[in-house]
Amino acid sequence: MNQSSNSSPSKIRIGILGFGTVGQGTWKHLQENAQFWPKILGVELIPARASVRSLEKERVVKVKADQLTTDSVSIVDDPQIDLICELMGGVDEAKELTLRAFAQGKSVVTANKALICEHGEELFRAAEEAGVGYGFEASVAGGIPIIKVLRESLVSNEFPLIYGILNGTSNYILTRMEKEGASFEEVLGDARDLGYVEADEALDLDGVDAAHKAVILAYLAHGIWVNLNEVTVEGIRRISNEDLKAAANLGCRIKLIGVIRREFSNDHVAVAVHPALIPIEETIARTDGVHNGVCLNGSVVGTVVLTGRGAGQDPTASSVISDLVDVVKVTNGISSMPKLLHVAADQCQPAAPEEITGRFYLRLAVDDRPGQLAKVADCLADRGISLATVSQTPHENEEPASLILTTHQTNEHSIAQAISGLKDLPGVVDEPVLFRMFDPNGIS
Ligand code: NAP
Ligand code: HSE
Repeated sequence: MNQSSNSSPSKIRIGILGFGTVGQGTWKHLQENAQFWPKILGVELIPARASVRSLEKERVVKVKADQLTTDSVSIVDDPQIDLICELMGGVDEAKELTLRAFAQGKSVVTANKALICEHGEELFRAAEEAGVGYGFEASVAGGIPIIKVLRESLVSNEFPLIYGILNGTSNYILTRMEKEGASFEEVLGDARDLGYVEADEALDLDGVDAAHKAVILAYLAHGIWVNLNEVTVEGIRRISNEDLKAAANLGCRIKLIGVIRREFSNDHVAVAVHPALIPIEETIARTDGVHNGVCLNGSVVGTVVLTGRGAGQDPTASSVISDLVDVVKVTNGISSMPKLLHVAADQCQPAAPEEITGRFYLRLAVDDRPGQLAKVADCLADRGISLATVSQTPHENEEPASLILTTHQTNEHSIAQAISGLKDLPGVVDEPVLFRMFDPNGIS
């Protein structure tokens, strides 16, 4: 920290690695609210330097030419820089730079969920050993202060169930498809323009970004780093307008949700991200657009639902700056940082597919001929799955009919076997479409 010689407040100079959507937002809001930092913290917060890949790119937030560099290491190593914001994304380089900052006694604030999901254990340990702060509020659910609430406000709770919408891009696309009948591609373009989409957009569309966030929440709630290979991860690409209408007929809406369940009798934890039909009365079913919504089922508090903008420049900058303020409070001895490593690490194990129960929605394209429905029902019955509802939409010109089924309670293992069987069943055309039916009140 640089102490000035006169009586004006000392300055904390911040280096921002990555000057894209979130980096520029953080710079802008630090500057726009400059008058508040001395009042809150007794110090000025100065965005001082930022790194980029290209110095030629036009930036909306204007900074002096000598404040931008392509050399991130020079920022981390700069003795005039007190704190680092890692807002560049990616994993390997971001990790190296973060560890380098810790080694120099500099705290780091990040929005990088991929990095924490993959290397959280190592990074948390390194930060604790270096005695520095590591803030990652912006890594989950954008502007919603979910990490602070989970770790601090709800500290007396255990969490049998946490679920919700963890990806703004997917929710924005699904909402506009449903409400306007808009096409997937058209809406994706708008989401890109609005700064919601990851540099690698497959992370958003295939559920991986939401899975990164669900893994982080599972660690915070249960002290287990669930490997991404052990997470059911499905995205939104197979959701059609027909499915959205069929869901509405069933009193539901389709949302991409993350679900973290813990069975306390054996400490097994299941983490999944997938589209799900949710009863329309649930807050999460009615959380639209870029908003995320997280429903925490706490053993002491009961149900808490947080909703707010889950992606985009301003909400994400809000979370980054909240962490910056916390880290500075720690540096200045105003407060202490919550511990990074979980107090009950290693207590939980991943749940097996047989343990994860629920109801399912299936859409099959089938030949429209006598006995086809009976064959499908037999295939499901062979795996102990019974049907709850059936509806068939005939298609014209001898095209396959659309068969929409919902099941009674079964489990992930049985439904996976049934899907393999259905793929080979004569008369079933195309890959079956499978979504979960998620009723938080009916979880067994
Ligand atoms: P972005 O707009 O693509 O910005 C990334 C920035 O990092 C760009 O300025 C880029 O430089 C710079 N950069 C990338 N690799 C670099 C390297 N090797 N060296 C120097 N600079 C490099 O991404 P973003 O949306 O701001 O996201 C940043 C991070 O925040 C990611 O971890 C993302 O997952 C996370 N996040 C984003 C949001 C959101 O709504 N956008 C919300 C929550 C969390 P150029 O500009 O020259 O290409
Ligand atoms: N691409 C992410 C999303 C950004 O759409 O949710 C916020 O993490």
